[in-house]
Amino acid sequence: MDSKIKPVSIAVVGSGYVGLVASACFAEIGHHVVCVDNDESRVRILREGGIPIHEEHLPELLERYRGHTLEFTSDLRAATQNAQAIFIAVGTPQSQTGSADLSYVDAVASEIARSMDSYKVIVEKSTVPVYTNEWIRRVIERNGVAKDMFDVTSNPEFLREGTAIVDFLHADRIVIGAATEIAANLLKQIYFPLTSGEYYRAASAVPGPRSEQDPPPILLTSTKAAEIIKHASNALLATKISFINVVANVCEAAGADVEEVARGIGMDTRIGPKFLRAGVGYGGSCFPKDVAAFRHVAEQVGVEFGLLHEVEKINEEQKLRFFQKIRSALWTFRGKKIGVLGLAFKGGTDDVRESPALDIVKRLLSEGCTVSAYDPAAAARTKEVIPPGPCMRYVDDPYAAAQDADALLILNDWQEFAELDLPKLHYTLRYPIVIDGRNLYDPATMTKHGFTYLSVGRPGLSQPLDPVAAFFLPRRRDGART
Ligand code: UGA
Repeated sequence: MDSKIKPVSIAVVGSGYVGLVASACFAEIGHHVVCVDNDESRVRILREGGIPIHEEHLPELLERYRGHTLEFTSDLRAATQNAQAIFIAVGTPQSQTGSADLSYVDAVASEIARSMDSYKVIVEKSTVPVYTNEWIRRVIERNGVAKDMFDVTSNPEFLREGTAIVDFLHADRIVIGAATEIAANLLKQIYFPLTSGEYYRAASAVPGPRSEQDPPPILLTSTKAAEIIKHASNALLATKISFINVVANVCEAAGADVEEVARGIGMDTRIGPKFLRAGVGYGGSCFPKDVAAFRHVAEQVGVEFGLLHEVEKINEEQKLRFFQKIRSALWTFRGKKIGVLGLAFKGGTDDVRESPALDIVKRLLSEGCTVSAYDPAAAARTKEVIPPGPCMRYVDDPYAAAQDADALLILNDWQEFAELDLPKLHYTLRYPIVIDGRNLYDPATMTKHGFTYLSVGRPGLSQPLDPVAAFFLPRRRDGART
């Protein structure tokens, strides 16, 4: 390794999504990491080789470094005392007012202050509103720590669940918000294996878009700018999704295909093709919370950000609209059997927080439907929210979900859902109706296979059905199907 690569002692406070992924990735690029969490049972699971989240590459990395350069503890004092950099990666949930609840950050800052006996760089990794760095500074000073004993910096994370490890190690950019050179330099040292391209030379490197010739750039900013970059990035991505969802509704009404329209828009390099997939609305632990928090931040500094309010409203309406689409296909709900593919807020994860799929399933149940649901990873977590029962069954494969169902819904975008055996699916369903909230299929192909196929923002049979026509749809068995 390059002589400029110097291992740094890092403490990561919080072993949630961001904390755990960051810990594993810091170990992967050569640092000594202690990941601390006050949830002792979680720490025990991590120490014993358990992996609390579903994330590609995470098992290999934990296996490689656990007990060597990556340790887990519930003792914050011990974890932070020897650390040069302390990353705060605790939750910032949404409060009643929509603002971020910073009580965990506050508590951790006080605890760090009480165990500080040498200069530390404290790094905000959680998504926090602008000014949080100043609050952390005040809390630490109030606990009797001298100003020159620490710096507070912001180094936001842009990882997506499901691809978090690759997003971390092959980042588009690494944002470092720091007020002093010494703090900025330590963060630069931490990321040097990535920014120098050195990491990508190793045969064991996790593969991804970055390479030795094209390493991630560093963006040095003020601490406040780094805080705002994180919130504004998520808010803009959510805006793109709400925008394309409304465009999809226009397409649907006008008889155009939103997939063609999105392709046409996305080919403009100023806009780009990503995050223009129409669907049932965005969910997850970040976009809903961060859009609300950023709107709140703007309000607090005296700026009205009505656009974000509209983005949220469109997202809510999109779920409702999809539900109306199901109604238009089924006419009535009571007693209908619905197959559901997808429970997590998107494919590739077991996370069901703010999942549009769960919202739709709950509505179906409240209208008297029976649901058979399949998700490759999210059933266990869904059961905590919607317990299994006579009306809610969890099954182990897509065809079991479709078995004798009056319609099949696709609610997230696992690759597996885009590769179904269509003749088998057709045979399995009671009525060959597929209502696709993620546009995974080509409408013409579905029609050719005899399905009534409804999707989002596409013409032809993806238009809401005439309710009377829906009632007379071809049946599967008993020779009644045409
Ligand atoms: C998001 C951001 O993409 C990350 O950059 C950020 O670091 C993260 O939040 C965070 O703040 O922690 P994530 O919530 O994992 O990541 O998921 P995304 O892949 O961004 O998807 C969010 C939602 O938007 C999902 O429900 C997804 O299905 C939906 N989506 C996404 C669409 O409906 N259309 C699209 O074109 C893209």
